[in-house]
Amino acid sequence: LKAVILIGGPLKGTRFRPLSLDVPKPLFPVAGLPMIQHHIEACAKVPNLSEVLIIGSYSANDLRQFVEEMTNTYGLSIRYLQEFTPLGTAGGMYHFRDQIRAGAPKYFFVMNGDVCADFPLQEMVEFHKSKDALLTIMATEATRQQSINYGCLVLGKDGEVAHYVEKPSTVVSTLINCGVYIASPDIFQTMADVFYAAQQHENFMQLNGNGKDPAHIALEQDILTRLAGTGRLFALPVTNWWSQVKTAGSAIYANRHYLSLYRLKQSERLAPAPDGPCHIIGDVHIHPSATIHPTAVLGPNVSIGSNAVIGAGVRIFESIVLANAQIQAHTIVLHSIMGRNSKVGEWARVEGTPCDPNPDKPFAKMENPPLFNTNGKLNPSITILGTSVTLAAEKILLNSIVLPHKELTRNFKNEIIL
Ligand code: GDD
Repeated sequence: LKAVILIGGPLKGTRFRPLSLDVPKPLFPVAGLPMIQHHIEACAKVPNLSEVLIIGSYSANDLRQFVEEMTNTYGLSIRYLQEFTPLGTAGGMYHFRDQIRAGAPKYFFVMNGDVCADFPLQEMVEFHKSKDALLTIMATEATRQQSINYGCLVLGKDGEVAHYVEKPSTVVSTLINCGVYIASPDIFQTMADVFYAAQQHENFMQLNGNGKDPAHIALEQDILTRLAGTGRLFALPVTNWWSQVKTAGSAIYANRHYLSLYRLKQSERLAPAPDGPCHIIGDVHIHPSATIHPTAVLGPNVSIGSNAVIGAGVRIFESIVLANAQIQAHTIVLHSIMGRNSKVGEWARVEGTPCDPNPDKPFAKMENPPLFNTNGKLNPSITILGTSVTLAAEKILLNSIVLPHKELTRNFKNEIIL
């Protein structure tokens, strides 16, 4: 077995700004681990999985240290393969097909780097093996309204996919594609058919590169749509927690759910409640190098990064505090992300708006609202302090997004501070 993680490139992930300005979005820490480390960790638990290939168009330098750390941590072969131009969700795999097929794996997983889940990988192997499938899709139920933002599946008998429609303009089905797949290497033949058809079309029409670039292949529109109804495409509907991370607000949601998975499966990663290094409520992850004042109150659903400093009487709730951030005494941080090296003075208040429509429903999908509404106003959002932002003592920052390196000395509400 092998796994491919698709991470896109620097031109994608724009809704994740400013958090993706100085670190690639796939490396943004959720529940204390870079987002795609959760994928790698899930892969490392699958017996006989020999290699993880990360495919994207970020510069190899951006990923080098991460890949080294992951190789050492999990003892797996982990490599980054760089597309020099974005080739689409299947184009990169087709381009690097020889690397994926090397060692003759029987199957390989394909995982979108921007999803978070309790990945049911072993279950997918068993299901896929039991069918004569080219590809099996992990699927989950969404509401009618949410479904049109995803790939929608209509099932036939025994889990066969009868129809596949990517982001339909009207409701087709509430069963959606989770962006996690297991494929048999024969899938490369279907990709080759798509590639040669596009190339012939280009030659026949004499488009001279003005048509579709044959090397750009979309797994969803070019492959899944074509395979639906052939009896070779299957879906495994699951109820495991799953969500997409497109906006910073959805990172808070993913943080909460990865923390609750730690509670179930790896409780040593959580600070002991209620008497950890300070008063702890619910699920809280604290990096061992962080300094926490014993009178601070943290939780629920908080992650504190390396070398962060949390002062006396500080209250933090539903938030992510990144490495080296300093939060001084008696400050409140709610529904917010504090960027690396950010600094908040004493008695300040940093507060966002919860973007989760239904916090009590454990499997509710996270909404990823656009940054602006149709009147050009900032949609309710969590508050984000970019890298190295400082907020003066006693100031209030509500529902705002602050770009890196700003020094704020007054109150702000509902603003993007450029
Ligand atoms: N290597 C590479 N090259 N990766 C890419 C490229 C590319 O050219 N384009 C996108 N990706 C990666 C993204 O970084 C992301 O992790 C994943 O592929 C999906 O990317 P999107 O193109 O943004 O699709 P989406 O997230 O809107 O929808 C996809 O995921 C949904 C589940 O989260 C589709 O697969 C939907 O059907 C699905 O429901």
